[in-house]
Amino acid sequence: MMKEDKKLFTVYKDVFDTGTIKAVWKLITENHIEGLESPIKIGKESNIFSALTKKNKRIAVKIHRILASDFFTIAKYLAMDTRFRVPGGRRKLIIMWAMREFKNLQKAKKEGVSVPEPIAIEENALVMQFIGEKFPKMPQPAPLLKDSCDKPEEYYAQVLQNLKILYQKAKIVHGDLSEFNMLNWKGKIIIIDLSHSIPVLSAESNTLLERDVVNVCRFFNKKGLKLNVQEVMKEIKTGAIK
Ligand SMILES: Nc1ncnc2c1ncn2[C@@H]1O[C@H](COP(=O)(O)OP(=O)(O)O)[C@@H](O)[C@H]1O
Ligand SMILES: [Mg+2]
Repeated sequence: MMKEDKKLFTVYKDVFDTGTIKAVWKLITENHIEGLESPIKIGKESNIFSALTKKNKRIAVKIHRILASDFFTIAKYLAMDTRFRVPGGRRKLIIMWAMREFKNLQKAKKEGVSVPEPIAIEENALVMQFIGEKFPKMPQPAPLLKDSCDKPEEYYAQVLQNLKILYQKAKIVHGDLSEFNMLNWKGKIIIIDLSHSIPVLSAESNTLLERDVVNVCRFFNKKGLKLNVQEVMKEIKTGAIK
């Protein structure tokens, strides 16, 4: 173990398993990040940290937790996605889960959906663009749409536009969409958390799309809009993209 290696291990050993420490270490030695900063969110299934690159650019690192993750839910979603074969073993499964989120982000970004730009992936650690206030000492992530919806019509229009591109061009369904997985950064809506997303071609995609749309309609209707789930679904699938 190198000296820095040891230091890193001391800092993170209570938070991460050894495999995760190795993954973070690899991101550092491959010059993707300098090290992790403050946690943005410590969740049940994943931890999100801010980090700085060598060039002093602030980025976000999402680390899927190997031990705490809901193994069975994840296995179920992976089974729906014909792009991936479900591997044996918890660790391999979570690594594939993170890789899937990375690929979904890449595809969505390429087609022009408003998502954080994916930067790198190392096992269960996904590096992506940081959305929010980057440069004060304490980086502030953008607020969730749930807590920041001052212009519902305008934000809904953005959400719809993004969902059309996601469905028609990237050909994936988000699968876990709600006001909790959308950020509002200075009036621009950014869709996050694409780990549940599956291809449109999967047998289950319509069920997941409907669930996503139910959440979107419920949220915006509470804000005074009058959206109909079936109409919105049709619009996402076939409506012209502006
Ligand atoms: N790229 C990002 N930039 C800034 N904050 C982020 C970013 N990605 C996630 N977050 C923050 O971390 C939280 C959890 O991220 P998310 O991808 O939704 O993981 P989970 O699977 O735990 O729900 C989000 O609600 C958001 O506040
Ligand atoms: Mg989330």
